[in-house]
Amino acid sequence: MKRIFVYSSVILLFFFQVLAVYSFDAQNLNKEVFAKRRQKLMDKMEGGIAVFRADAFNRDFYYLTGFDEPGAACLLIPDAEEKFILFVRPQSPARIVWTGKRYGTEEAVKVFGADKAYSMAQFEKILPRYLMGKDRIYCSFNNKELTDTLTQMIRRPRDNWPKEISNVLPPIHDMRMIKDSYEIKLMRKAIDITCDALLETMKAAEPGMYEYEIEAIIEYIFRKNGSQRPGFPSIVGSGPNSTILHYDVNKHQTQDGDLIVIDVGAEYGYYTADVTRTIPVNGKFNKKQKEIYEIVLEAQKQAIDKIAPGVGIYEVHYRAVEVIKDGLYRLGLITDKESRWQYRIWLMYNTNHWLGLDVHDVGSRGHDDGKGRRLEPGMVLTVEPGIYIGEHSLASLSETMRRSNARKEDIAAFLEKVKPIVEKYMNIGVRIEDDILVTEDGHENLSSKAPRTIKEIEKWMKKKSYLNK
Ligand code: GLY
Ligand code: MN
Ligand code: MN
Repeated sequence: MKRIFVYSSVILLFFFQVLAVYSFDAQNLNKEVFAKRRQKLMDKMEGGIAVFRADAFNRDFYYLTGFDEPGAACLLIPDAEEKFILFVRPQSPARIVWTGKRYGTEEAVKVFGADKAYSMAQFEKILPRYLMGKDRIYCSFNNKELTDTLTQMIRRPRDNWPKEISNVLPPIHDMRMIKDSYEIKLMRKAIDITCDALLETMKAAEPGMYEYEIEAIIEYIFRKNGSQRPGFPSIVGSGPNSTILHYDVNKHQTQDGDLIVIDVGAEYGYYTADVTRTIPVNGKFNKKQKEIYEIVLEAQKQAIDKIAPGVGIYEVHYRAVEVIKDGLYRLGLITDKESRWQYRIWLMYNTNHWLGLDVHDVGSRGHDDGKGRRLEPGMVLTVEPGIYIGEHSLASLSETMRRSNARKEDIAAFLEKVKPIVEKYMNIGVRIEDDILVTEDGHENLSSKAPRTIKEIEKWMKKKSYLNK
């Protein structure tokens, strides 16, 4: 009797195991989207063969294949009948017991649309067969090991063998800068979840909470809504920590009267959001906080308003800088609006970056004429001006100045003048960050669901959250 029970338990367990392993995401993979990207890349290649290898999860590899298991390689061959070859870790029943199912070669074909699939163990042996007859190899120069191996291989004097190797990343990164509708759908979802998390946090925040409690609320809402993980370490900086740009220790207790900079992003389908809101922990901005906040908000609004196809990304940044400079001058935090260095004490970074599979997504911002890369429909960028007045700000002055052409006596005069104003606004850090999609006729703020105005934030903070009842 006992034995029968044990047997049936084992059978049941096996049954559930099989059920569990068959419910993974890739079954819903939109094969055509990835096929289209591969074709687009192959159209840009001049024949030859592209070789990719991803020992760990790799975003460029994922972008082209949708394949998200580590230990994979792929070949793209524009002129061949079988253009898309995948190498993957084979199925292993013994492994399933420990870590679950792998896609295996069968699913590499069925789910991911490979024309042919091999076990990764055969990669080195089979690769030369595919190199034969090609004149050029494309590979990712980020993968040094693969680049070195391929470079060694083509040094062998052989007929009918590749003689040249080129970097495949620039065309891929150009493609990644313009999001297709499938990507925009995923980004909308990641950003929506992030806004929901910020809204819940506004309701839940109260003085005395630890920064990590706020982080926990944010990340609970992420997971509750199907986000796999935060796209980058969540930043929850209160009081003095609000002035530290990438503060992610999140271990201090908030104090009544603190501002909190909350810079977070849910990841969804490997795409990440990146949204920042700055809120007063007690639900009401005080006068000094309002003065700084309004400057940052106006800078952000004007920068976002500029966004449209054909505008340079640096033009968006400089719009924000102009408004910030005006505001700082009004408050007495800078003494010269024309100075190239003064405002940089309070705003020390470029206020835009591309967003996508990476939080600081691939693609250059640069352009020869100083206006920066021209915006195109389908690009997604952040707009994130800020002002940060911390204990460290003036102390960092001499270091900042060393890199500029500022004269010593100018610095001394400046210090003398701004010191009392700095004291007044000490420990106020404000950043406001939204994720903007460039459209045919302008732009769309994908994170507008998270309130930004003082009035709206204060209104949301009056509400109660179900999480701290
Ligand atoms: N969260 C990092 C950034 O805003 O760039
Ligand atoms: Mn951010
Ligand atoms: Mn950002």
